[in-house]
Amino acid sequence: EAGAAGLASSFDFSEIEAGSDETHHVAEGYDADILLRWGDPLFPDAPALDPATQSAATQARQFGYNNDFVGYIPIENSSAHGLLVVNHEYTNAELMFPGLATLSRKNGPLPLSPAQIAVEIAAHGGSVVEIRREGGKWQPVLGSPYTRRITAETPMEITGPAAGHPRLQTAEDPTGRLVRGTINNCSGGLTPWGTWLSGEENFHYYFQGKLPEGHPEARNAKRYGLGAPQYSWGGVHERFDLARTPREPNRFGWVVEIDPFDPGSVPKKRTALGRVKHEGAAGILARDGRYVVYLGDDERFDYVYKFVTAGRVDPGSRAANRDLLDSGTLYVARYDADGTGTWLPLVHGQGGLDAAAGFESQAEVLIETRRAADRLGATRMDRPEDIEANPLTNRVYVMLTNNGKRTADQVDAANPRPNNAFGHIVEMMPDDADHAATGFRWEVLVRCGSPAAGATFSAETSANGWFGMPDNCTVDGRGRLWIATDGNSRKATGRADGIWALETEGPRRGTARHFFRVPVGAEMCGPCFTPDDQTFFVAVQHPGESEDEAAPASFEQPATRWPDFQPNLPPRPSIVAVTRKGSGKIA
Ligand code: FEO
Ligand code: CA
Ligand code: CA
Ligand code: CA
Repeated sequence: EAGAAGLASSFDFSEIEAGSDETHHVAEGYDADILLRWGDPLFPDAPALDPATQSAATQARQFGYNNDFVGYIPIENSSAHGLLVVNHEYTNAELMFPGLATLSRKNGPLPLSPAQIAVEIAAHGGSVVEIRREGGKWQPVLGSPYTRRITAETPMEITGPAAGHPRLQTAEDPTGRLVRGTINNCSGGLTPWGTWLSGEENFHYYFQGKLPEGHPEARNAKRYGLGAPQYSWGGVHERFDLARTPREPNRFGWVVEIDPFDPGSVPKKRTALGRVKHEGAAGILARDGRYVVYLGDDERFDYVYKFVTAGRVDPGSRAANRDLLDSGTLYVARYDADGTGTWLPLVHGQGGLDAAAGFESQAEVLIETRRAADRLGATRMDRPEDIEANPLTNRVYVMLTNNGKRTADQVDAANPRPNNAFGHIVEMMPDDADHAATGFRWEVLVRCGSPAAGATFSAETSANGWFGMPDNCTVDGRGRLWIATDGNSRKATGRADGIWALETEGPRRGTARHFFRVPVGAEMCGPCFTPDDQTFFVAVQHPGESEDEAAPASFEQPATRWPDFQPNLPPRPSIVAVTRKGSGKIA
């Protein structure tokens, strides 16, 4: 059936029942196979996961923890052979290690040993895994020359306008251009030149200690929420102690670009894309061939950004695009009540971003991106997570996951609900359908949650079809929007997180349908299609985590032991490959 833009926009799978139990569920007629689990060997010499003997050395050769972003990069244009790139956002020590029962990370760092901290550090970062589909089933290719683990220790280069700035210099790195590792890599994106962009999100959790009294970074640290650590790395590693390395946090909060085809390549932190709590970094070409990356900053009352490169993508040469993301313009969005909006440039010397305001250079505008955006009068949003452009319509979808702190006197047209527990989705239409344009129109596509909570899904949406807390999203090859959620069960909706398909075109616009659901305690990440739409990779993050702050789950007593259900194994975050029984596209 044709939608407004000529899309085949209707979904044709049998909806699953919303609910929550110890395992995952997918629509009838589909297989949902476990492809990669935390601790799975990625190299021929790596051991299988054994919680009793797990070490940093084994973890660095195994699939990491808490898979979030998933990207599929075809090899020779194949939808049956390619590289899977995966972010490992964070660790649940209470589920990974025995003996931490009844402790909650939310109350501050768990008391881990240096060896356990080393495992955590090795379980962060990302994985590059060559995968192949044979006989209908996907398998990792053990011994692939592309296999790579990136961790919170992997050497990286800082590039772009802030590289080398004194505020990025430390005793360990007086150049301000080299940093060890990446942390809290949430969502991301793939570029047309075959690289992987990975967003550093909640970096503030990793820094312990207090800045020295009167330190010049105090205002900056406050704006990013430093001082509420959830990890105890600072007790072992000087660079994660604010008292000893006060500028180290300035070296995190960036978008990292990784070349998955060269396992020896040094990942680059691209400072031109700003320093925020980056969720995703999905991009699209502008009319004239420049590349545009949409960027969410996942914090209550923070902003939606985009970056437009100065140069154009050269489709014929990977090398020509190598440093494209080092030059361009970062913008922040202002949504006006009349349904129009403006992208405000974060450029030193413009809009009051000058020395009088404490910005001596473009480097400082980028290091303190949030404060610069505050000055421009951008619209304070309800936690912007993934943002994806639909290449068939050029409409852009912004997942605004929730904001329980917005009060009735703080609502605006783009964030219309006080105490926004279930979030909403904003649709943006760039002027002239050009992603480089500085003007746009926008509307709220849907207010999420249950009908009782004032949601605005279409009347056709079933009792299973509504969802709250949109987080990740992707657009399939036919231009259809799929949404992954985070937090439904915590709001006592009786439903686990999962995947919902959402109609965006034609008379069914606003109709949602439930496709997949995660086991108890998990959130849904990924998601990602192969180019032929025959495989849908989804990421199950933190299965078995407690949904009740008062009753933390543990290694000994997880909320589920998915996916192995072995008494000696804790739950394991895993990538699931969904395919149609027999064969065919995901309908
Ligand atoms: Fe890592 Fe915004 O979720
Ligand atoms: Ca997220
Ligand atoms: Ca996405
Ligand atoms: Ca989330």
